[in-house]
Amino acid sequence: MAEEHATLSNLSTENRSFPPSDEFAAQANATADWYDRADADREVFWAEQAERLHWERKWERVLDWDAPFAKWFVGGRLNVAYNCVDRHVEAGYGEQVAFHWEGEPGDTRTITYADLQREVCKTTNALIELGVGEGDRVAIQLPMIPEAVFSMLACARLGAMHSVVFGGFSPGALKARIEDAEAKLLITSDGQYRRGKPAPMKANTDEATAETPTIEHVLVVKRTEIDVPWTDGRDIWWHEIVDKQSEEHTPEAFDAEQPLYILYTSGTTGKPKGILHTAGGYLTQCAYTHNVVFDHKPGESVYWCTADIGWVTGHSYIVYGPLANRATSVMYEGTPNTPHEGRHWEIIQKYGVSIYYTAPTLIRTFMKWGTDIPAKYDLSSLRVLGSVGEPINPEAWMWYRENIGGNNCPIVDTWWQTETGAIMISPLPGVTAAKPGSAMRPLPGISAEIVNDAGEPVGHGNGGYLVLDEPWPSMLRGIWGDEERYRETYWSRFAEQGYYFAGDGAKYDDDGAFWLLGRVDDVMNVSGHRISTTEVESALVSHPTVAEAAVVGASDATTGQGIVAFVIMRGNVAQDEAKGADAIKALRDHVSKEIGPIAKPRQIMVVDELPKTRSGKIMRRLLRDVAENREIGDVTTLADSSVMDMISAGLQDSSRSED
Ligand code: PRX
Repeated sequence: MAEEHATLSNLSTENRSFPPSDEFAAQANATADWYDRADADREVFWAEQAERLHWERKWERVLDWDAPFAKWFVGGRLNVAYNCVDRHVEAGYGEQVAFHWEGEPGDTRTITYADLQREVCKTTNALIELGVGEGDRVAIQLPMIPEAVFSMLACARLGAMHSVVFGGFSPGALKARIEDAEAKLLITSDGQYRRGKPAPMKANTDEATAETPTIEHVLVVKRTEIDVPWTDGRDIWWHEIVDKQSEEHTPEAFDAEQPLYILYTSGTTGKPKGILHTAGGYLTQCAYTHNVVFDHKPGESVYWCTADIGWVTGHSYIVYGPLANRATSVMYEGTPNTPHEGRHWEIIQKYGVSIYYTAPTLIRTFMKWGTDIPAKYDLSSLRVLGSVGEPINPEAWMWYRENIGGNNCPIVDTWWQTETGAIMISPLPGVTAAKPGSAMRPLPGISAEIVNDAGEPVGHGNGGYLVLDEPWPSMLRGIWGDEERYRETYWSRFAEQGYYFAGDGAKYDDDGAFWLLGRVDDVMNVSGHRISTTEVESALVSHPTVAEAAVVGASDATTGQGIVAFVIMRGNVAQDEAKGADAIKALRDHVSKEIGPIAKPRQIMVVDELPKTRSGKIMRRLLRDVAENREIGDVTTLADSSVMDMISAGLQDSSRSED
């Protein structure tokens, strides 16, 4: 399409590049020779990285690859929680801070590694008392509070799997995830702080667990003191069961391929996919990447990843990677503008944060709020800045560098996915001359290609599909309970070549650097969160007034993409009423209730027809043209070519609302 070509040529004119200072390069954890070393023998390289961990029994083979199924560090045994907590205490670092936790209302907690060990052991003992054991699934829906970390590590310690569900997801979304994983225990809280006010959480999770027979108990952390509904016998207060437990628990070593967690992510259908990660390979790559990409120095760096624990970034870069590397982290409970728009910079100044890892959507929001806000704070402790979740525009990259990094911090734009488990494509901060907006090249040990429709490499200066052509340690091991979908989703597109298809478009510039261009499938990326068009369509159609819906992602200056929905109302709904502001609001609220506020459409257009091909497939390309106010493209494959005229004509009186 014309638009894509324009983007491609804009990107290829980006010729600014920013090498690290000599000083930074001289002290960096990884050096340029790592690429060659890894290329020379990938298995030897990954074995060296695995040595960063404590193995109760060493592996016999680095990799068994029976495509698309990988086993890494075969025969090795380890305990993930021991690696993240106990071994640091045993090595004499018990008094080092693991988390500077900052609550939204301004309360704080300082948790040392010794504290973390005590809390994780007590939580583990409580889970045992509640009947949780190896292989069981535990659902967790919690705000950004330390108990979320304790719960995840307690599961890992026991060889049970956690399934963390983002706090903003609706009861329906939580229920679907509990059912799919057949979770035995749900860990939640009475409420959560949202923009300065306590909001209910337990009331929502109760709605989710009303009909989930697998849930035996609900463990409830008291965070906000708001009233909660209570089911005697099933519900237990965290403080009543955890506080009384022994502070000791001897961890057992599990197989390297022991399942560690399931994390649900949107696919191209309405049913979320339970991405499965396992212990040894996952922890190895999380620890390796956290060490080399952020140039983390244990005991010196103060590291802050602003993601929510409910997403993969929170799993890999708040919990597993940093703790395996004995990081001192900041963990922040709240929103970036509560109580004021300088909250992040205030926190960086307060704790002397040296590594800050956030998302482009937030950087664009900060840009909107104005440069005078960060300018009021002392950000000179920062050494490395990171970005993740969506392509970062060159302007946002430059703004980040100048206004947050004081023009002297390397920026690492890290490309990866829930499925990859850890960072795959990113600059090395002490090595790479980074270009604003490019993730640059695969990390040492990782192999990626950009290929055309036939699976052939496209070569420098050309665009195509991003594929991963070699297995990697933290790769997903499957989709929970659905092997067929695993093969179909990731391995069928380039089955002949045996490539993993990431679902992203990408381009090589003339120097061979990677530029990520966004999803090529029906998955939207809103503020770095993956939402499928089908999921939102199903939510809309579940409203009694809606007959049919089509949803597209349209570019949005702040959120990357915004959700735009086209709906056909049922025959019995009066048309003027259907297009009224109240009806549109009711639909937006309905989607929010069904999936969560992140899925609320930015815009809903009521139409009489949808553009379809003769075989009945909705032509989203045309809807995207409308949503992005473009001239409408080729309509010759439409079954009824007058439909687009009708849609365009009808739009004038459709509502658009934003909040
Ligand atoms: O489209 C890519 C985009 O986010 C998708 C993965 O989303 P999720 O599994 O939710 O994980 C997000 C955090 C790792 C990818 O398929 N994406 C992620 N990072 C980048 C990116 N797009 C461009 N540049 C990135 N750095």
